[in-house]
Amino acid sequence: MRVPRWSELRELIQFEAPTLDSRTRALQRAASVGDIRKIARRFTPRAVFDYTDGSAGEELALARQRHLFRCVEFHPSALVDVSEVDPSTTFLGKRVGLPIGFGPTGFTRMMHHAGEKATASVAARNNLVFVLSTLGTTSPEDLKDAVPDGNNWFQLYISKDRSITHDLVDRVEAAGYDTLELTIDTPVGGIRRRDIRNGLTVPPQLTPATAINMAMHPNWVWNALTTEPLEFSSLKSSQGTVGELLSRVFDASLTIDDVTWLRERWKGKLVVKGVQSVATATELSNTGVDAIVLSNHGGRQLDRAPIPLELLPAVKQAVPAAEVYIDGGITDGADALAAIALGAQGVFVGRAHLFGLMAGGAAGVQKLVDIFRDQVTTQMALLGVTNLNQLTPDHVRLRATPIR
Ligand SMILES: Cc1cc2nc3c(=O)[nH]c(=O)nc-3n(C[C@H](O)[C@H](O)[C@H](O)COP(=O)(O)O)c2cc1C
Repeated sequence: MRVPRWSELRELIQFEAPTLDSRTRALQRAASVGDIRKIARRFTPRAVFDYTDGSAGEELALARQRHLFRCVEFHPSALVDVSEVDPSTTFLGKRVGLPIGFGPTGFTRMMHHAGEKATASVAARNNLVFVLSTLGTTSPEDLKDAVPDGNNWFQLYISKDRSITHDLVDRVEAAGYDTLELTIDTPVGGIRRRDIRNGLTVPPQLTPATAINMAMHPNWVWNALTTEPLEFSSLKSSQGTVGELLSRVFDASLTIDDVTWLRERWKGKLVVKGVQSVATATELSNTGVDAIVLSNHGGRQLDRAPIPLELLPAVKQAVPAAEVYIDGGITDGADALAAIALGAQGVFVGRAHLFGLMAGGAAGVQKLVDIFRDQVTTQMALLGVTNLNQLTPDHVRLRATPIR
């Protein structure tokens, strides 16, 4: 037997340049959203991770939507030249690099001090939509200044105190946003058991275990204490404690008349998020909204709510001309492709971009985008499509049970 010479092996064995920082090393190796979630969990206090990761009630809606994505079976088109694959599409007529946008999330600078500006700048660099929440921790004006070229939308909660909403819509318009996304699944806040158990309530009543766990994350604590204090930047002019503010942010008496009012008031594009039935989708299509997002708020509001992927075909059949997006439980580029095949224009993620941020600030969010891009383009090629318009319901079958 001949002993191989080093010169022959050198090309086969390549070592990574060693990096000292374990977080950077873990991020470099991450191959899935699940891997990024694990890094986020490691580097964030438990209560903050649970606030992000958790949902309402028994967390059934979230589990069911993830389960349904796992039930997707793909049926590829064969013998198609897929040497060039284009993962871009349009959201509200504007070209985006991937069919995955970053949905609105409140409290973002609590997850990681770099907050919305970091996520939005990664979105802009990759030509993706970023949606700033009414409960965001960066104001619409500051975000616009930090990321002037981003495709940024503003998510609106209509407040009990209508003067808050009127002022906010004026400010968002003056700051130059062209798209407003109204969320309608939040007449009141959902009951999130993890937050109650951790004491992450309003006002916070941190349990000793939660406080000790926070102390075990000195980097997070240091960054939180040495950067701008956390606040709902869009609602700064509103008086009162956080609890009083939150109780005014959601209006339990919201009706279709408010959507009609907003449609008349807002000259830009209007998207309605939190649609959970064919009846609501049909009612909204008559008000002239530009798009709807089928969403149960990632399971954080009504537990046991309908699952957007399941609802999608019936909604498309009832309002075929509507531009429809879905969100909830998306953890793989393949999930986005399944949704598009069943009629969605695109999808949004919430937790996934927060996990990216928690795992490594802007670098973590960029890693997430890289993973999604790789998944989308590879799966498109394997499905035998070169652009997203070629996906049809024939590419997807929903199996009764997932095979692991
Ligand atoms: C921590 C967190 C905060 C959120 N805050 C808001 C919000 O302020 N406004 C809103 O419309 N949706 C909010 N959402 C819901 C997301 O926009 C989105 O509907 C949901 O996260 C999608 O599910 P996914 O996280 O499984 O991707 C939030 C979600 C999370 C996880």
